[in-house]
Amino acid sequence: MAQKVILDVDTGCDDAVAMLMAGHHPALEFVAVLPVHGNVHLEVTLENTLKLLFAGKLEHVPVYVGANAPLIGPIIAGDGDQIIRLPFPESSIQPQEKHAVNFLIDYYMSGEGADTIYMPIGPLTNLALALRIEPKLAERIPKIVTMGGAYIGGNTTPSAEFNILADPEAAHIVYSSGIPIVMIGLEVTDKAVIRKEDIQPIREIGTPWADAAAEIIDIIVNIHLKYPGRTGGIVYDACAVAAVIDPSIVETIPMHVDIEINGSYTRGRTVADRRTRGNAPMNVDVGISIDREKFLKILYASLR
Ligand code: BDR
Ligand code: CA
Repeated sequence: MAQKVILDVDTGCDDAVAMLMAGHHPALEFVAVLPVHGNVHLEVTLENTLKLLFAGKLEHVPVYVGANAPLIGPIIAGDGDQIIRLPFPESSIQPQEKHAVNFLIDYYMSGEGADTIYMPIGPLTNLALALRIEPKLAERIPKIVTMGGAYIGGNTTPSAEFNILADPEAAHIVYSSGIPIVMIGLEVTDKAVIRKEDIQPIREIGTPWADAAAEIIDIIVNIHLKYPGRTGGIVYDACAVAAVIDPSIVETIPMHVDIEINGSYTRGRTVADRRTRGNAPMNVDVGISIDREKFLKILYASLR
């Protein structure tokens, strides 16, 4: 039976690839998508999400619009890694009337979501709000697999990864909720480099969703190749989806992870305790590496 997933997205180029994988890999059932503020402002993450679903032949996936700003901190949309608007035609898809937060509460509290993995690949604002409205939700969400965080160093500040920095208070609520979390952070995603030559097999697949993915990945690779020392592009959020399709491609270590919400230099850091003698419970399976070849195979298989 296909694994059900809900994606909470801030589309974003790499979110778009993640959605195409979730929507087309036979091992997954893409239950719903929840656009939130993040890479760009909510109006644009929504527009990009609708365009992507249309271009990628995923019109059947319901869209529930989420939070337009972090709980407390400032909006930090745009870190230079993303283009603002996806290069696809306007979409005729309409979002649902229900808010993403209400959808999360209704879906999981009804018991329908007992086997559904929740996948935040943007800031964690939607789930944090839902947990504050309905704390019992923490017992109903079986598992979170998220792209976010880093146990060594950040990409948006020396300490913080973008998705966590974009709403550290929300991340604190989610990471301390008791919901089992698999964290696909920068130490994983940075090992899944996609080189220029890796895009050609995607172009050759010939499906509309593979064409869309090739176009987006090409943009990402071109942006990332401008950074010193890069040999290709990082399609962050795609790594989290690949890790749900085949968890064996990612090596994880259980750690205790807290979110730094106060530090003037370290706000947004996922403070991961790698000591075996720490007293705090291990609340997160922290990804430390990924098999790049297997990741590419899963990417290609998703787009066929
Ligand atoms: C994360 O931040 C966003 O820019 C990407 O979409 C990804 O989810 C990487 O730090
Ligand atoms: Ca994202």
